[in-house]
Formats: sequence, structure tokens, C-alpha cells
Amino acid sequence: MSEFSERLQVYKESVEKALDRWLPEPSIQPEKLHKAMRYSVLGDGKRIRPVILYATGEAFGIDLDTLNGPACAVEIIHAYSLIHDDLPAMDDDDLRRGRPTCHRAYDEATAILCGDALQALAFHILARDPDIKVNDKQRLAMIENLAIASGSRGMAGGQAIDLAAVGKSLSIAELENMHIHKTGALIRASAELGALSVEEVDPKLLSLVSQYAKCIGLAFQIKDDILDIESDTETLGKPQGSDIALNKPTYPNLLGLKGAKKAADDLHIQALKCLEPFNENADMLRSIADYIVKRNK
Ligand code: IPE
Ligand code: IPE
Ligand code: MG
Ligand code: MG
Ligand code: MG
Repeated sequence: MSEFSERLQVYKESVEKALDRWLPEPSIQPEKLHKAMRYSVLGDGKRIRPVILYATGEAFGIDLDTLNGPACAVEIIHAYSLIHDDLPAMDDDDLRRGRPTCHRAYDEATAILCGDALQALAFHILARDPDIKVNDKQRLAMIENLAIASGSRGMAGGQAIDLAAVGKSLSIAELENMHIHKTGALIRASAELGALSVEEVDPKLLSLVSQYAKCIGLAFQIKDDILDIESDTETLGKPQGSDIALNKPTYPNLLGLKGAKKAADDLHIQALKCLEPFNENADMLRSIADYIVKRNK
């Protein structure tokens, strides 16, 4: 196993242990809702947002244990976004993380409530987690950051743009705007929450990791669009070809596969540039940028 994969494994295990602790026990009432929450969050995800958050904290030299709460919060918002993304009213998908989607395994009403409850839980964690070491003012900044990234000016807004764009041909600027919101916002928040976990973070360095994350966030969704064409359902754990079936505007659709790959590669280079002032503590962030454009799932 490479050093990178070993470190990824450490991050994954940390966040998964913490998620298990924060999620209500399945035996607690209402049992069906709590089971659905655990089913959706604890499935086989890549945990890329927590990974970015941990790696950012480490780039600033802080301890992994102080990052578990924010890492859980962002992953839980992501899990909620996937549950709602898969609903019949949105992408109407039946498979997620290699298993039936939440509304298929349970029912639609439970899936809607599951998303609602997860969103609330994410903010509960940021407000409550005793291991977050920053002062209350900065904790409030973390809460606000995740709220903006999740809401109508972030992920939810991006999803609205996505739905309104079905069957339309967008310009490259409009497509970029959609991707930056629906996927980029939470990835950017992951890096920013990692940096905001540092007491007295240097605003210049915060802005650089934020720029880095803006680039890899966009590259991540471009790669997701490419994999929707090039990969297969088994590897992805979600239905391959879903974008084409739904007539979604995507990067490969607009630029061709070659053009989409070049766009992702350019963003990769830009992302690495943002990290130039950082020392070797940011090597995980550098490797994550490589992984995002090279991944096969
Ligand atoms: C899928 O996200 C949805 C997008 C924003 C592209 P991921 O590819 O991170 O999904 P999981 O968490 O690994 O299942
Ligand atoms: C989903 O984008 C983005 C969010 C869930 C916010 P996609 O619809 O492309 O994600 P997949 O391909 O279903 O994972
Ligand atoms: Mg979608
Ligand atoms: Mg989808
Ligand atoms: Mg997709």
C-alpha cells in the first residue's frame, strides 16, 4: 500500500468511527428513520470531503482528533444531498454506493425526512462537538460557512440549477457555475472547515486552500461526468449512463471527452499552484488533487 493510500485509510477510519458515534442508535425511536440515517451515511462512500478536511487541517499542522466533528458534519450534509439527489423528483436513481437508494430501501417519505434530519444533525455536531478547539466566534464562522455552502447559494442552489438545466444546452460558463455550486461548494467548505479548525489561521493561507479546493471541487464533478460515460455500474456503485438518460448538461456533452479531460487536467495544475507556499505538510492535499482526476470511481 502506498503512503497515500495508508493515510487515506487512517482518515476514512477516523471519520467512520466518529460518524458511528454521532448517528442515533437504530434502536432509538423513531427506529425506521434512525435506521435509514445509518444506512445512508455508513454505506461505502469514498469520504473525499472528510479526507480533504483532515488533509487541510494537517497542512496547518493540527491534530486529527480536533477535526472529527467538522469532518462528520460535512460528510453528513453530503449524505443528505445524495439521498435527495436520488429521489424520483430529482435524478430518480435506484442504486447508490452499491446498494438500493434510501427511498428504495425504505420509502420516499422516510428518505425525505432522513435528509432533513441529517442536515440538522450536521449543524448540531458543529455547535456541540467538545473536541473542536477554536473559540466560540470561530466556531460560529464554521457553522455559517457550512450553512452557506449547503444552502441556496451553495449545494442546494446548484441542484436547482441542475434541475432547471435538464434538456437545455448551457454555455461553458453556465455549466461551470452549476458544478461550482452543486458539488464545488461542499468540497470548498471541507477545506475551509479544516483551516477554520486552526486557532488564528492566517487569512492568506485560508484563501489559498479555498482556491485550491475551488479547483479540485470543479475537477471532481467534471470527473464524475466523465465516469458516468466511461465507467460501469458495478465499479461506480451507482447507475452508469444516468446523465445521458436524463439529458443532463455535462462537461463531456459540451466539450467532448477529450475536452472534459483537459479541463480537469488544467484545474489540477491550478490547484497545485495554490499550494506552492505550503511546505511538505500539504503533500496529502497535493496527492488528493492527483487522485481526484485519476480515480476510477
Ligand atoms: C457523488 O459524490 C456526488 C457528486 C457530488 C459528484 P461522491 O463521488 O463523493 O460519492 P460517495 O460519497 O463516494 O458515494
Ligand atoms: C450530485 O450530482 C450533486 C449532489 C448530490 C449535490 P450528480 O447527480 O451528478 O451525482 P451522482 O452522479 O448522482 O452521484
Ligand atoms: Mg443530480
Ligand atoms: Mg445524481
Ligand atoms: Mg453524476
